[in-house]
Amino acid sequence: MEKFVIEGGRRLSGEIHVSGSKNATLPILAATLLTDGVCEIRNVPKLRDTLTMCKLLRSLGKTVDISGNKVTISGAVNNHEADYKLVSTMRGSFCVLGPLLGKLSKAKVSMPGGCVIGVRPIDLHMKGIMALGVKADFDAGYVIAHAARLKGAQMYLGGTFGSSVLATANVMMAATLAHGETIIECAACEPEIEDLGNFLSAMGAKIQGHGTPRIVINGVKKLNGTSYKMASDRIEAGTFLLMAAATKSDILVKDAHYNHLLALVDKLQSIGAEVKRVGSHDIRVKCKKTLKPANIVTHPHPGFPTDLQAQYMALMAITPGVSIINDRVFPDRFMHIAELNRMGAQIRRDTGVAIVEGVKQLYGAPVMASDLRASAALVMAGLVAKGKTEIYRIYHLDRGYENLDVKLNNIGAKVSREKE
Ligand code: UD1
Repeated sequence: MEKFVIEGGRRLSGEIHVSGSKNATLPILAATLLTDGVCEIRNVPKLRDTLTMCKLLRSLGKTVDISGNKVTISGAVNNHEADYKLVSTMRGSFCVLGPLLGKLSKAKVSMPGGCVIGVRPIDLHMKGIMALGVKADFDAGYVIAHAARLKGAQMYLGGTFGSSVLATANVMMAATLAHGETIIECAACEPEIEDLGNFLSAMGAKIQGHGTPRIVINGVKKLNGTSYKMASDRIEAGTFLLMAAATKSDILVKDAHYNHLLALVDKLQSIGAEVKRVGSHDIRVKCKKTLKPANIVTHPHPGFPTDLQAQYMALMAITPGVSIINDRVFPDRFMHIAELNRMGAQIRRDTGVAIVEGVKQLYGAPVMASDLRASAALVMAGLVAKGKTEIYRIYHLDRGYENLDVKLNNIGAKVSREKE
């Protein structure tokens, strides 16, 4: 296993490039199961999670060639069983359920289980596919689903915590080859869903409204292969904006979609950071003065993203004053508190929220990464801390940030990747 060793206290400056979106790539790779044609997907981030999805596609019969950031998928799916070993390592694997059902009208997919950020039920996925006429059972940890022919239907896909990104993705993919019209109400509006809809359209699907709460899909008989370029990763871009604010730096984040990050940009501006759109693809962030503390509540898009909550907490940890952080999407997503506190932060939990009392200085310490975004928060804390921070279990980071150490070193950080 590897660890990061960070020497903190350095200002960052220059340009940092954002890679392709992980969370958009995963369902788009899964969507290639819907066709026997050749799909070429460009700007795919080289990450543990995208490689896991490629392995899963191979296990289902597809031929997958990876060349740099281009993935070419061909051949027909010849197996409808997604194995526990692959699905349990990455929840995103569960989004092969929809395309397997769309293409083969049957699927056996391991239930993903919970993870450190929460229980993570699958009731909305099941509700959606069952509305399409699918019969489903649970057996020995697997969802076993089949239908004579999937039939379009209107459905309401909102749950206790709002819409679900991957449940929306699963239903969209299954419905592309169903008979008739499907209407998803309370669909997830995340940019990753918009990207998936664009990809499915490029494959020949009839789909409208992706990116809004009402998606309408008219089933077609067959989908074709296509070539597609992944949009950039809004969470990686948002992490860089927060890192610049925390280290009082001036950086240009290249290939970052301003419109996808409005909740974060608005928050950063309101606490005193300068954040500006540069051209159509870049964002400049400049932060020279001490910021003000401010509360956040996470919500589904276009609200403040839960995937930036841990990184925002790291920023508030070194912003004098008190701020309250409430995660309404994953209410238990607070594993990073204990590790940030080991570095001198003053954060406590109180009935569903985190209360952060900003301190003047964090101090380097050995800390343990617990999940992907929590790890990014620890890197942020390491960048601003006095002294040396060692972050163990960085395989979590490698699930979602492409070459993070290299990218940060290029703008003046001192991060080394070492054997544990
Ligand atoms: C996706 C993202 C993840 C992000 C999350 C929320 C991927 C691979 N992962 O995960 O990074 O943090 O969106 O933006 O794209 N829920 C139910 N029932 C369900 C499904 C979900 O109650 O059947 C709940 C969840 O527990 C959570 C909320 O709905 O409270 C949102 O979860 P969801 O949007 O489904 O997250 P994912 O799609 O798994």
